[in-house]
Amino acid sequence: MASDILIINGSPRKNKNCFEIATYIEDCFKKNNITSEIFDIYDMNIEYCTFCGYCEKVKGCKFKDDMSDMYDKFDKAKGVIVISPVCFDSVSAKIKTLVDRTQAIYASKYILNDSIIDRNKKRIGMYIAVGGSKSYDTQFKGGQIVMDFFFKSINNKLKYNLYLNNTDEIGYKENEHFKALLKQNVKKYIDNLIGLY
Ligand SMILES: Cc1cc2nc3c(=O)[nH]c(=O)nc-3n(C[C@H](O)[C@H](O)[C@H](O)COP(=O)(O)O)c2cc1C
Repeated sequence: MASDILIINGSPRKNKNCFEIATYIEDCFKKNNITSEIFDIYDMNIEYCTFCGYCEKVKGCKFKDDMSDMYDKFDKAKGVIVISPVCFDSVSAKIKTLVDRTQAIYASKYILNDSIIDRNKKRIGMYIAVGGSKSYDTQFKGGQIVMDFFFKSINNKLKYNLYLNNTDEIGYKENEHFKALLKQNVKKYIDNLIGLY
């Protein structure tokens, strides 16, 4: 059965910041009897979009890989949470690969007028960006722009955006301020979700 919430870990590193955040969130859902699933994106086989134009003619993508199931999961989900490292002020490369493959959803809606995804269903999005450096002006801007567009493409209302910086010096687990912020926002997310359904 499809999980209510899809949690996408955008870091290749296991047991580091993004992974630990994903695990914490999954645990919160469990305690509230909400089903969720973590996708370690660097363990997934996802081809790059090749701009072939297939999805502009036929519903779906020509590639049959780990992305194939994701289209249906995005549709069935009540929400999606992306946790990504900041990479050159954007999301990680594998997250961007997944984002580009949602062009098949975009094309189904705006070119084929035969949407892969139920556009009337309410879904809630959350984006958490994790940067290694101390705060600087552009650190989260590129990733945020990409995620704003992505969450629209998968018909999630992106209500929660959290930024963690300076992981080079203070990891997520030691960052009491961020942990409190995360706890607060996950609680709001869950309350929101319960209110919706
Ligand atoms: C290729 C690469 C690019 C990065 N670019 C940035 C950056 O632009 N800004 C930043 O603050 N941190 C940057 N970082 C640091 C990571 O965002 C940071 O180490 C983060 O904690 C990684 O997530 P993880 O700990 O869950 O693996 C970069 C790291 C790598 C490997």
